[in-house]
Amino acid sequence: MNYLSKNIIQNKKVILRCDFNVPISDNKISDDSKIVKSLKTINYLLDNDNTVIILSHFGRVKSEEDKEKNSLRIVYEYLKDKIDLEFIDNPLNLEVINNSLKKCFLVENTRYTDIPEKRESANDLELAKYWASFADVFVIDAFGSLHRAHSSTAGLANFLPTYIGFLVEEELNNLQPLIDISQRPFIVIMGGAKVDDKIKIIASLLEKCDKLILTGGILNTFLKVKGLNVGKSLVSNDNEVLKLVKDILDKYKSKLYFSKYFIVDRGDYDIEVTLNEIEKDDIIYDNILDIKNFNNAKLVFFNGTCGKYEERCYSHGTESLLASLANLNANVIIGGGDTVGAVKKLGYTDKFKYLSSGGGATLEYVAYGKLKALDYINEKNVDKL
Ligand code: 3PG
Repeated sequence: MNYLSKNIIQNKKVILRCDFNVPISDNKISDDSKIVKSLKTINYLLDNDNTVIILSHFGRVKSEEDKEKNSLRIVYEYLKDKIDLEFIDNPLNLEVINNSLKKCFLVENTRYTDIPEKRESANDLELAKYWASFADVFVIDAFGSLHRAHSSTAGLANFLPTYIGFLVEEELNNLQPLIDISQRPFIVIMGGAKVDDKIKIIASLLEKCDKLILTGGILNTFLKVKGLNVGKSLVSNDNEVLKLVKDILDKYKSKLYFSKYFIVDRGDYDIEVTLNEIEKDDIIYDNILDIKNFNNAKLVFFNGTCGKYEERCYSHGTESLLASLANLNANVIIGGGDTVGAVKKLGYTDKFKYLSSGGGATLEYVAYGKLKALDYINEKNVDKL
C-alpha cells in the first residue's frame, strides 16, 4: 500500500478525493466528523506547498432535482472558515483553476456528472482522465467511499501516481480487529437506512460473526418478509432483496436476533409495543434492543441507529443501546455517519474504542475484508511509482 505518510509530496498539483458526504439536518451539517478527519491530509498537502483540488460526492444524484438537493456548497460554507479555498461549481469546469491565485479548491459534487448518463458512478475513464489532466498526483482519502470503484475514487489511478491519505490509513489500522476477529463472541448490530445496500452483505457478515442483531430501518424489511405489517415504515420493495431476506431468515435463524420493543407513531400520539403486537397500519420509528443478547461480547461492531434518534422522542432505543455498549467489557467499534452523529449527539464520544467515518464502506470491509476502490488502485499503481 502506497501511504502518503511514507512519502513526501511537495510543490505538486494534487487531486484529493475526500468523502464529504456528511449528514444534514434542518439544512445544517449535523455531524462534521468526516470533514474534521480529512483536515490532517488537507493541511499536510497545503503546508507542503501543493495545490489541492478536492473532489467528493454528496448524496445520491439520479435526477436534475437531486442536483439542487445535493450541492457541496454547504460543505464549502463550513470549510471556508477553516481553509482558504475556492468553490468550483461545476465538476466539468476545472479550467477555472488556471485563472485563480488560490491553492485549494473544492469541486462541486462529482455525481453531478451522472446526469444525463452515468459517468462518475460508472467509472468513466474519460472523466477520470479529464480530472487527472489538472494534477500531478492523486491522493485518496475518502475512506467512506472506498467500496465504490468510481472515476474519482478509482479511475484516477489509471492516470496519476496514487497515494493513500492519512484518514484511510488510520481507518485501516483501527478496523483491523474486525478483520482478524481474534476476539469472540463477535456481535454485529445493524440498523439505519440504505436498506437495500446493507441487506446484500448481511449473509457475508453472518458467516463471520457469532450473532447479528437487527434494529432500525433494516429490521422492518425482515419483519415484512416474516408477514408482519409494518405500515409506512422504511422497507425495501425490491423483489430480489425480499427473496434474499427470506433465504437469510431460513439459513441463519440461529444467529439472527431482532429488537423487541418499538415506539409506534399513530399520528397524534406514540405508543410502545412489542414485536408480537405490531398490527395493521403501524409505523415503526424506533426500537429498543434486548441487551441480554450481547452482554458476553468481546468484539462488537455497531452500524446504523435504532430509529430517528434526531428527534428526542425516538432516541431512546439508540440511547439505551449506546449506554449498554459503553458499559461492556468489549472492543466496541462504531461505523457510519448517522451512527457516529448519534454517538456524539447523545454524549458517548469518548466511550468507544473507535468511531469509523465509513458507513457502507466499513460494513463491506468487515464483510469481505476488502474494498473495491482500494484493490483497483493497488493494481493500477504498481507501474506508476
Ligand atoms: C456514505 O455515506 O456511506 C458514503 O459517503 C457513501 O455514500 P453512497 O452510499 O451514496 O455511495
